[in-house]
Amino acid sequence: MNLSVLGCGYVGLVTGACFADLGNNISCYDISSKRVNSLKKSVVPFHEPGLDNLVAEKVENGQLAFTSSLKNCLEFSDVYFICVGTPQKHSGKPNLDFIDAAITSIFEYVTEQKNSAVKKHIFIKSTVPPGTVKSYLKKLKSRKLDKLISISSNPEFLKEGSAIQDFMKPDRVVVGSNDADAIEVLRLLHRPILWKSDRLMIVSPESSETIKYSANAFLAMKISFINEIAKLSDAIGADINEIRKGIGSDERINPNFLYSGIGYGGSCFPKDIRGLSYVFKKNNITPHLVNATLNVNEEQLEHFLNKIFTIYSKKVLKTKTFAVWGQAFKPNTDDIRESVGIKLVQRLSPLVKELKIFEPIAKKNAQNEHSELSNVTFSSSLPSSIKGSDALIICTECREFWNIDTNIFTMLNDNNIFDGRNILDKNILLDEGIHYFGVGR
Ligand code: UGA
Repeated sequence: MNLSVLGCGYVGLVTGACFADLGNNISCYDISSKRVNSLKKSVVPFHEPGLDNLVAEKVENGQLAFTSSLKNCLEFSDVYFICVGTPQKHSGKPNLDFIDAAITSIFEYVTEQKNSAVKKHIFIKSTVPPGTVKSYLKKLKSRKLDKLISISSNPEFLKEGSAIQDFMKPDRVVVGSNDADAIEVLRLLHRPILWKSDRLMIVSPESSETIKYSANAFLAMKISFINEIAKLSDAIGADINEIRKGIGSDERINPNFLYSGIGYGGSCFPKDIRGLSYVFKKNNITPHLVNATLNVNEEQLEHFLNKIFTIYSKKVLKTKTFAVWGQAFKPNTDDIRESVGIKLVQRLSPLVKELKIFEPIAKKNAQNEHSELSNVTFSSSLPSSIKGSDALIICTECREFWNIDTNIFTMLNDNNIFDGRNILDKNILLDEGIHYFGVGR
């Protein structure tokens, strides 16, 4: 099939490249001509394992093309995937301006082409509040375009760092649609990846939109739940890793997304949980659990920082240099959006002598973010960040940190390690005379 993808961000690029890999021809549009120009040269603007190679291969064989002309992109096919951003406003309300602009342009384009016999199908992949598709269907009707265009919800569930794998081996593909032709288009498109298991779920648009929000809210709630238990664990001397295994072995609970730490970040959880809370309020329902999830996450960094403030008084802290490992919101990405590690550095910088950061992938983004902080420097290796530091703080669970040779910690003047992701072996460190402070351990 020929497909048009609107928006070359995370979701759009992965969708375009993966559908090309499944044998389709794709035209990807983005409003930023700078982004389009670099994508034409197969330069992917963010780090996602395997994506640059896949884009390069598909651009080279002509299956994947980029354009900053929306008209060209719309002319290319009759199937439109909307993958534009839905940033949040202050109230938590998702900003649908980009979606509005994209859908309005499609309406106008189709109005001009009214004689075309082929029905156009719009699939909204961007995360939008429940009711969004319904409201656009109303507009379609009022403009008498409902026989010419279908609009469906088709949320994306990929995770940064494993996006291609998540797209190609999905747990499920959700289609929120009332249009049989649109459902058939999606069924055909996903045949190569869903032929072994029938994981195409056809639901109403409202259910589909709510599935996306609730999935993220539930995962975030698991994290906030374990972080809350970690506080109790700290207070009574239990170990949260043991608790995670103990409760996670019950398959109704399962151990995934029960890793305690300094809290969740990223471009999705914080925005989507606030977005869901907004939707509840709009419907006059108090979102008790959703709000608690948010509140626990916001308190988590302070809970962790208090461990540092308990060891170092305000006056002493001013004389101390800390090595900080990790700034990305999670491993294997250069994304620092809503990263708790970034917040930690911004919060600690005025209180300490120096922060020496080591960040394997997101260094450039973190450097830009901290460019105004004069006592923040970036080290080129793990040992050089430790050398001359008094203590270490771990913010991201990057692979290279887990099995680090513990000998390098002898360079820490105060022997203190604050492990914000609970990744180091507490017992080995304690045996070596290092003071280890995890979360809930
Ligand atoms: C999340 C969801 O996991 C995806 O299913 C969803 O499609 C995506 O949002 C989206 O809406 O687009 P992502 O933002 O890539 O994916 O990141 P996650 O792997 O979910 O991690 C989010 C945050 O939670 C990270 O800061 C991570 O460190 C933290 N986390 C995760 C924990 O603190 N503990 C855990 O046990 C797991």
